[in-house]
Amino acid sequence: MSNPSLLILPGDGIGPEVMAEVRKIIDWFGAKRGLAFDVSEDLVGGAAYDAHGKPLHDDTMARALAVDAVLLGAVGGPKYDNLDFSVKPERGLLRLRKEMDLFSNLRPAQCFDALADFSSLKKDVVAGLDIMIVRELTSGVYFGEPRGIFEEGNERVGVNTQRYTESEIARVAKSAFELAMRRGKKLCSMEKANVMESGILWREVVTEVAKDYPEVELSHMYADNGAMQLVRWPKQFDVIVTDNLFGDLLSDCAAMLTGSLGMLPSASLGAPMANGRPKALYEPVHGSAPDIAGQAKANPIACILSFAMALRYSFDQGDEAARLEAAIQQVLADGVRTADLMGPEGGVAVTTSGMGDAIIQALDASL
Ligand code: IPM
Ligand code: MG
Repeated sequence: MSNPSLLILPGDGIGPEVMAEVRKIIDWFGAKRGLAFDVSEDLVGGAAYDAHGKPLHDDTMARALAVDAVLLGAVGGPKYDNLDFSVKPERGLLRLRKEMDLFSNLRPAQCFDALADFSSLKKDVVAGLDIMIVRELTSGVYFGEPRGIFEEGNERVGVNTQRYTESEIARVAKSAFELAMRRGKKLCSMEKANVMESGILWREVVTEVAKDYPEVELSHMYADNGAMQLVRWPKQFDVIVTDNLFGDLLSDCAAMLTGSLGMLPSASLGAPMANGRPKALYEPVHGSAPDIAGQAKANPIACILSFAMALRYSFDQGDEAARLEAAIQQVLADGVRTADLMGPEGGVAVTTSGMGDAIIQALDASL
């Protein structure tokens, strides 16, 4: 049997730097755990624009559809701010999500013990936090039609459309219930049914899907209250399911609970392929961080944890994913710190590659 295939799209800003550390980790699993991957690499975002005049080449799109999983770094940067909307780096990422039909975006917010002091919230509010946000990723206001900037009378009007079909809601709800079954069996659905018809439908469909999961305790919350509850007492949540735009906002908020955006991975999953694996793209939640790009300061952990999610969700290697996560816990407990993680208590300051090397050492020690 051939090795599973991985397409790596480092992208822009700190993307290539953090991805270089992921490559070390992938190589380690090939050499030490007999888990070899066929790895190929390509361009996305501003890097693709510079080479091809568009943020995702059709050939890259075709390759993404053909591989077992895609690993992406980050896209965007000030250099591209004034580009036409249709060729902005972000459009490359949105095209990947849409054409791969990655409707279920898993964004865990987990607080590592060694970093509980890092949150802007009190330690007891975040210590031990482990929640999962499931964000709908291929519909809603990000893609709804009509959209555009139109002339109306003597002024312009900007239009976007929030639109959800029942089947779109049902499939993401189902993926969230499945996840809840494997975790704490609690699911909170967030929308704005008090002001939006799409929210009313969302609530109805989620309630309908819940009938297939009698063991899961389902609750509903208006998304604004949800944002408030996330910072008030986040441990009340296990799994949260919400739409594309609310999920974008709520996941940034949840990410910061954990102390650093540099720690948070994500998985974007679609329907199963012929080989039974879901179509999948893994990426850190952080962006391209142009302010620190090229300075060896970036924290590669979010991207490395994204690979751990790939091991778990695409390759059925939950034990190896846990090994990698434990190695990261160990390194953090040992006080190894990239700049974003350096607090008043100090620690061992390392560069991006220093962090990657420390994780490799901890992996070696795990054998
Ligand atoms: C995210 C990002 C993207 C989004 C951007 C880069 C298009 O903020 O993945 O959360 O809005 O979905
Ligand atoms: Mg976002």
